[in-house]
Amino acid sequence: MTGYRLTRLLPADHLHHALRADARSGLTGQPKRLPPKWFYDARGSELFEEITRLPEYYPTRAEREILTARAGEIAAATGARTLVELGSGSSEKTRLLLDALRAHGTLERYVPVDVSESALESAAKALIAEYPGLEVSAVLSDFTTGPVLPEEGGGPRLVVFLGGTLGNLVPAERAAFLSGLRDQLLPGDALLLGTDLVKDPAVLVAAYDDAAGVTAAFNRNLLSVLNRELDADFDPAQFAHVALWDPEQEWIEMRLRSLRAQSVKVGELGLAVNFEEGEELYTEVSAKFRRERVERELFAAGLRLSDWWTDREDRFGLSLSRPMSDASD
Ligand code: SAH
Ligand code: TRP
Repeated sequence: MTGYRLTRLLPADHLHHALRADARSGLTGQPKRLPPKWFYDARGSELFEEITRLPEYYPTRAEREILTARAGEIAAATGARTLVELGSGSSEKTRLLLDALRAHGTLERYVPVDVSESALESAAKALIAEYPGLEVSAVLSDFTTGPVLPEEGGGPRLVVFLGGTLGNLVPAERAAFLSGLRDQLLPGDALLLGTDLVKDPAVLVAAYDDAAGVTAAFNRNLLSVLNRELDADFDPAQFAHVALWDPEQEWIEMRLRSLRAQSVKVGELGLAVNFEEGEELYTEVSAKFRRERVERELFAAGLRLSDWWTDREDRFGLSLSRPMSDASD
């Protein structure tokens, strides 16, 4: 491919080691839990794309509506030469920003950052064909553990984090993530953040427990990842998908519930994991926000919110913020 470069900020075997460590601590802990980044192997990334097209899964459409209305304004406000995207996945909605920045005349480079190499590769391939002359400099990285922004110049940079993925981190992880990100931003850079909003729990639960069962398949795919990568023998059919609204935390919680008492072997770890009937493996949270909380969490990380946009039905929020100068910290 011309115009495509992949930088690995992770050593070749890092992901395998990290998965082993996460599986060992997560499957021997109480309650059992696994971090959500392991959903996204090639199959998981495909299933997520299917989720974004489900009638119940409104966040993608709501965020696209906001981007369609505001991309021109965002391009003019940021004048970005480099567009960096964290958790870029298929880079589908990103095209609205690429188009606007190109029309504004500043766009030079797109830097998608993702933990899924297959997602990076297929997104980049399509973009290079569609945007001749665009430099696509992909970064394979884990945004929860390491640096995410490339060091070279190319500023001002617009860093975008879409899809409500920030909500997949718990509050302490979010705080660490946001302040780590803020420390990598330079004066003139900006952050565009997409956050799903608190709303009728029935609407929220349906978005994470669709009638066609795609989200259930996505959740269970985590077990197939463990089977393949760690020589485990989970039978995904023996686990039910559970999606609950927690009104206190204001997040959706996803779990896999063991349908019977069973023992699962994880070959590579030499581990036998016992599940009681009804015992749940915690797989993911998806926090829902209110404007005040987004503004407060950004501020605590040294970022000042300058714009807040929602879709017409107030389902999803998009915020633009900038690093505060040390003088105003
Ligand atoms: N931004 C896209 C995709 C969202 S799905 C959209 O809005 O539709 C979440 C994406 O984040 C997936 O592509 C997944 O591989 C990536 N991801 C999840 N955890 C990650 C992590 N810790 N580091 C880097 N990428 C991660
Ligand atoms: N960032 C997405 C969200 O929180 C990820 C997601 C959508 C997801 N559906 C899911 C994660 C189902 C796990 C299970 O909306």
